[in-house]
Amino acid sequence: MSQKPLAYILLWFLFQLLVNCQSIAINPAHRFLHTATFINNKLYILYGSSEEIVNDFFYLDFSEPFNIQELTWELIPWEDLTDAHTVPSHNGAASVKGGADNNTLFLYGGESDEWDKQFALVYTYNPVTNSWNIPTISGIIDTTVRRKDLTGIIDDNGKMYLWGGMEVIKENVDGRDGNYFNDMLILDTINLNWGRGSLVGAPTARYNYGATLLPNNNIIYMGGYNGADLTLYQVYLYNTVYDIWSVKTTLGKIPSNRDGFSIILGLDGQRIIIFGGITTTAGLAPEDSLYELNLINFEWYIPKISGQIPKSRAYHKANVIGNYMVVSFGSGYLHTESDILLLDISNYNEYIWTNNFVPSNNTQSNSAPSATSVSSPQTHSDYPHSDNLLPAHESDKSPINMIGVLVGSLFAFILLLFGGFFLYKWNKIKQEKKNATQILEN
Ligand SMILES: *[C@@H]1O[C@H](CO)[C@@H](O)[C@H](O)[C@H]1NC(C)=O
Ligand SMILES: *[C@@H]1O[C@H](CO)[C@@H](O)[C@H](O)[C@H]1NC(C)=O
Repeated sequence: MSQKPLAYILLWFLFQLLVNCQSIAINPAHRFLHTATFINNKLYILYGSSEEIVNDFFYLDFSEPFNIQELTWELIPWEDLTDAHTVPSHNGAASVKGGADNNTLFLYGGESDEWDKQFALVYTYNPVTNSWNIPTISGIIDTTVRRKDLTGIIDDNGKMYLWGGMEVIKENVDGRDGNYFNDMLILDTINLNWGRGSLVGAPTARYNYGATLLPNNNIIYMGGYNGADLTLYQVYLYNTVYDIWSVKTTLGKIPSNRDGFSIILGLDGQRIIIFGGITTTAGLAPEDSLYELNLINFEWYIPKISGQIPKSRAYHKANVIGNYMVVSFGSGYLHTESDILLLDISNYNEYIWTNNFVPSNNTQSNSAPSATSVSSPQTHSDYPHSDNLLPAHESDKSPINMIGVLVGSLFAFILLLFGGFFLYKWNKIKQEKKNATQILEN
């Protein structure tokens, strides 16, 4: 009898070993509806939505070259800052780089799973001191209404433009659908006060649209969702200097209606590039995922691309960093693919999907606002789109994860062998002892 507890202990130990091997985090968890803010050569990623509740904060360092297929916590350049953060989990928030030092992360709105926690409308993060704060902001705004699934755009005067979005509802309390908005909130990140933009000529209410700042101080808005996916045939311009809306009708190969796509300004300031998103019924095929809009004549076309074309994504983010459109996380991609995608946009005649990031001298000057729209799904049931876009954690594991599991399993197997051998020996000795006593007794 005495070997039984030992066997249990051994089995328990092996079981723990196996479980731990599977859950060792080699990479950050997959997520969408996160924020991605580029400050001082670092892309700060905050939370997002996931099958697991993701409440973390980390950055990816863009000061050195790296290969997107070799990203792990161990090999850097991911750097975990979760220990320092004090902010409840967010998804669908808007973020920009701004503030008096032009080096502060401003986080607006979004939704949290942690309703019981104090949840401010605006948080700031100072990368120098690695600390979060709740700023005091003056001016009139109904701070009881939170918005999510909107894009924050910062202009050269430190003003953060927050247009549209969806009202955040405490589902368990309110039991109604959130409203959509079409008004413009303006947060002065230097003087810390709220203002409002004009409603005249504003697009219809929506969330999860695409938006980015153009060189002529206009913000371009397009697409999005208001119960149906909205067209990119008409695009809207908000002039930040004169507070005036206008609308442009586009030509050419107009992308299908969509939301949850990303949008960036090309390096020459004369074109915008959009990637991914979804339509009302389904995700997008890779060949329907990348478009360019010429800002001179407002004509759409499909740019020439080379390299390994990735699966399309939705609810990801895109930032311009150096010569690249840097796509982070999102839903809809295989987990054998990297969380980060790099599109080299330095040659306007041919963009290249590449695995290698090489910093350029002008990396900082190209830091674009985290220009992506995000969308709304709080639950799968109010999610109007196809389910296959949601992260499929169980179906695919990255090669590196697989290696971890394999090595762990092998290790466990060897331990099991030793354990078995040990038990066998133990038993044999016991048996021999027993035999010996029996012989003695006889
Ligand atoms: C903040 O820095 C960006 C470059 O990262 C620059 O384009 C912008 O004009 C700066 N804003 C202010 C208010 O100085
Ligand atoms: C970057 O700057 C260094 C000097 O600061 C220069 O030698 C180098 O050629 C530059 N590289 C590029 C790609 O412009």
